[in-house]
Amino acid sequence: MKVRKALIPAAGLGTRMLPETKTVPKEMLPIVDKPAIQYVVEEAVESGIEEILILTNRSKAVMEDYFDYHPELESKLRNAGRIAEADMLRKVADMAHITFMRQKQTLGLGHAVLCARRFAGDEPFAVLLGDDIMKNGPPVTAQLIRAAEKYNCSAVGARHVPLDVIHKYCSLRYEDVPGEEKIKRLLAAIEKPRPEQVYTDFAILGRYVFTPGIFDVLENQMPGYGGEIQLTDAIDGLARREKVMAVDFDGRRFDTGSMTGYLETVLEYALESPKTGKWLRDYILKKAEEFEK
Ligand code: G1P
Repeated sequence: MKVRKALIPAAGLGTRMLPETKTVPKEMLPIVDKPAIQYVVEEAVESGIEEILILTNRSKAVMEDYFDYHPELESKLRNAGRIAEADMLRKVADMAHITFMRQKQTLGLGHAVLCARRFAGDEPFAVLLGDDIMKNGPPVTAQLIRAAEKYNCSAVGARHVPLDVIHKYCSLRYEDVPGEEKIKRLLAAIEKPRPEQVYTDFAILGRYVFTPGIFDVLENQMPGYGGEIQLTDAIDGLARREKVMAVDFDGRRFDTGSMTGYLETVLEYALESPKTGKWLRDYILKKAEEFEK
């Protein structure tokens, strides 16, 4: 089994970040000097993905522009001797083989994945949620691909989360796999569980690798939580038909699609950036002194 393709669903309406996301896709919000989705594409490329499908909607065409050439701007930069910047713009557009497709109706993450059926064909494929950025540690998608290839099955990225926030995610039932510490066999999954529905504190966070078997489940998937076709419900169905592994991945996940998650992400990256790190540290220290007064 070889995973060469990835889907990045980025068609959500971004209702947690209004009014900003009325016209600017949440995936295009800047994390220091790059839009959030670039980090996600970079993770896919670093994980060995060769072909990417980004699922958008009618108000998100700016994502296509971002991964296109911009000859006018590039030549202006080159004429002004700003070669490194011109090269950088070119590199973004040449980073990966990306195709775009519009989800005509926003019917849920499960429906979004079903839209990739023709793209995936009969190959396994990765899914990277467009507003979840993974930091620290080897690329999370690569960690999942390794597990999927080892066990020849689907694999989802999961972490133990505090039980008081599990209702924002999903909850997994699982069993140990002999000889594995980080890889569990997924037995059942429930989306946005109510307290009495929680299986464990183990939740899927933004990364998946699927066999094409997921499409057979999704095409018959009834709407679930929030009236949407939920990917988690299909994973629950898939785990009853075939093996699905849950990988307790290394790295930290940032949710750029919520107000506080976005600010946290920007601060973390800005503190590490050579362009802004020292300035921001000094600024925070100065502010902290002011708060103490
Ligand atoms: C989605 C998934 C959920 C997952 C979460 C974090 O929820 O449906 O299972 O735990 O992403 O990756 P959303 O954040 O879209 O509500």
